[in-house]
Amino acid sequence: RIVHVNGSFLPEESARLSIFDRGLLFADAVYEVTAVIDGGLVDFDAHQRRLRRSLGELGIAFDPDAWDLLGVHRELVQRNDLQEGLVYLQISRGAADRDFVQPTGAEPSVILFTQSLPLLDAPAAARGLRVITRPDLRWHRRDIKTTQLLYPSMMKSAAVEMGVDDVWMVENGDITEGSSSNAHIITVDGQLITRPLSHDILHGITRAAVLDYAAEAGIEVVERPFSVAEARSAREAFATSATAFVTPVVEIDGGPVGDGVPGPGTDRIRALYIERSR
Ligand code: PDD
Repeated sequence: RIVHVNGSFLPEESARLSIFDRGLLFADAVYEVTAVIDGGLVDFDAHQRRLRRSLGELGIAFDPDAWDLLGVHRELVQRNDLQEGLVYLQISRGAADRDFVQPTGAEPSVILFTQSLPLLDAPAAARGLRVITRPDLRWHRRDIKTTQLLYPSMMKSAAVEMGVDDVWMVENGDITEGSSSNAHIITVDGQLITRPLSHDILHGITRAAVLDYAAEAGIEVVERPFSVAEARSAREAFATSATAFVTPVVEIDGGPVGDGVPGPGTDRIRALYIERSR
């Protein structure tokens, strides 16, 4: 695989980053995951807007305007002959002597790599996800896409260990989001319910696109928190992310959602999303 580090394309074996990189020592880094379908990037501009916001919130002195990040993404896709999968981009504050005080002069580290994945014909889309609920114990700036992913990684691992697919995290009785996806339900009345944007969840790029496409298709979209009980008695539930697109959730805490199989509402929204993204 060819990867990108601080301005150079090179084989992954030759890639080097300082052991003092603050991304490594403090998770002092932000990232974006952009899907690739048919060799093309999905929603690149929206991912870049969120990246700028994350950098600004953490005060990481990386200037996207000084870079041709689109060109770098495209070249990486091309060099790896990637048809379907993702491009991962991470920008850390840079390397500095280990200190809780953030350094001012560090040069941000920029890394990119690709992963080849079946996104369109993902097995999870056909069978649906089984999730368990767990308390959301992450920090309270989940709107910033940092690499501080220990808790969601622990929770997803625990879920897989239990024989299910993922967690839906819960705060004050309401579902916040999945370990790496936004959570949505479709009520028996056919409304698409999704938690409103705040510091409590990541402002998903897929979420935003799906809400637009659903509204255009005449589906009623309501942005409000929903409880675990409501999700369990919903007609359908689904998760969205750059790599999951729109994936049905068919079981919550051992109980079926609706008929316990992927439903027509979710299938329709997934098809709409894919049609508009390629
Ligand atoms: N994760 N919520 C969380 C906590 C996420 O980590 C993600 C994405 C999303 C969905 O956002 P988007 O639609 O912009 O991908 C929601 C990426 C895919 C990851 O960490 O791999």
